Amino acid sequence: MATDSKTILVTGGAGYIGSHAVFALQQAGYQVIILDNLVYGHQDLVDQVLKTPLIVGSTLDRDLLTRLFHEQAIDAVMHFSAYAYVGESVSNPSKYYENNVVGTLSLLDAMVAAGVKTFVFSSTCATYGVPQALPIPESHPQNPINPYGATKLMVERILADYDKAYDLHSVCFRYFNAAGAHPNGLLGEDHDPETHLIPLVLQTALGKRESISIYGTDYPTPDGTCVRDYIHVCDLADAHILGLEYLLKGGESTVFNLGNGNGFSVRQVIDAATRVTGKPIPVVEAERRPGDPPALVGGSDRARSILGWNPQYSDLDTILSHAWRWHQQRHG
Ligand SMILES: NC(=O)c1ccc[n+]([C@@H]2O[C@H](COP(=O)([O-])OP(=O)(O)OC[C@H]3O[C@@H](n4cnc5c(N)ncnc54)[C@H](O)[C@@H]3O)[C@@H](O)[C@H]2O)c1
Repeated sequence: MATDSKTILVTGGAGYIGSHAVFALQQAGYQVIILDNLVYGHQDLVDQVLKTPLIVGSTLDRDLLTRLFHEQAIDAVMHFSAYAYVGESVSNPSKYYENNVVGTLSLLDAMVAAGVKTFVFSSTCATYGVPQALPIPESHPQNPINPYGATKLMVERILADYDKAYDLHSVCFRYFNAAGAHPNGLLGEDHDPETHLIPLVLQTALGKRESISIYGTDYPTPDGTCVRDYIHVCDLADAHILGLEYLLKGGESTVFNLGNGNGFSVRQVIDAATRVTGKPIPVVEAERRPGDPPALVGGSDRARSILGWNPQYSDLDTILSHAWRWHQQRHG
C-alpha cells in the first residue's frame, strides 16, 4: 500500500507500546504525529529515537483536538493513551473513567467533526474478567473485574455505536501482557511505578530491587504459580500496522485478541531471566493476591487468519533477552 501520503496521529506515542508502534509506522513509510500528556511518557525517546513531532497535551483538551484536526491532515488515529494501573483504578476510579472514557470520547468527537474515520484502539484482556475457557476467544463474555477493564469495555461499546451512527471504523486490539523491547536496544518498557513482572524481575537482576515476590504458589497450574500470556511489543506494533491497513483497505470494524497463545508461569519467567541475565534473582514466596486468575492465555487465531499477523518473537528467552538489553542500557 502507498503510505507516503498518510499521516497517523498516535496518542500515547511517548509510552511503552505507542513508541514501538510509532517506530514501526515510520519504518512502514507513514508520517506520524504524537499526542501525549507526558504523565507517563518519555520525551527523550521521542526526541532522540523517534524524532517525531510531539504535541504535549491531553485527549481531554477538546479545543486542542479541534485545532489539531483542523491544522493537520490526519488520515487515521492509533489510540494508546490511557491510565493502566489496575490497583489504582480500584482506589481511584474517577481518574480512570475521566481519562480513559471521557478522554477517548473527546478524541472520537474531534475525529467525527473532522471527518477522520479510521481508529485503532488499545483494548485489553482485562475486559474479559475471570476466564471461563482457555485460550480465551474474542467471543468470550466480557465481565471486567476492575474499573480499568471496565473503561476499556466502555470504549469498545462506544466504538460500536460510533460505527453505526457516524461510520467511524475501528479495530480494537485486546492485548494480553505486552513484554520485551525493541531488538535495536533503543526503545523499551520504562514505567514508573512499575508493576509488570518482567521489568520487576530484571530490576532484581540488576540489583535495583532486593527480591521478586511470587504471589501464590498453590494455584492449579503446572508449577503452582500464575500463568500469563506474554506478547512481544514489536509483534504488537506489527499487528497495529496490519490493523490500520485492514481498515484503510475498507475492512469493517472488528476486534482481535493479541497474545502469544503460549502461557508462561511466574516461575518460568524467573527461570528464563536467570538464564538470560546470568544473575541471581532472589525470590520471596507470598500469599495470593485477590482478583488474580490462575491463568490468562489468549487465542489469537483471528488476527493471524484475517490480518495475516505472524508474531516473530514468541520465545520467552528472546522476549527476556531483548528486555534485558534495554534495561541494562536504560537503568544499568
Ligand atoms: N502494557 C500492557 O501490557 C498492556 C496490556 C493491555 C492493554 N494495554 C493498553 O495499551 C496502551 C498502552 O500501554 P503502555 O503499557 O504503553 O502504557 P504507557 O503508560 O507506557 O503509555 C501510555 C501513554 O499515554 C499517555 N497518556 C495517558 N493519558 C493521556 C491523555 N489523556 N492524553 C495524552 N496522553 C496520555 C501517557 O503519558 C503515556 O505516555 C494503554 O491504553 C493500555 O491500557 C497495555
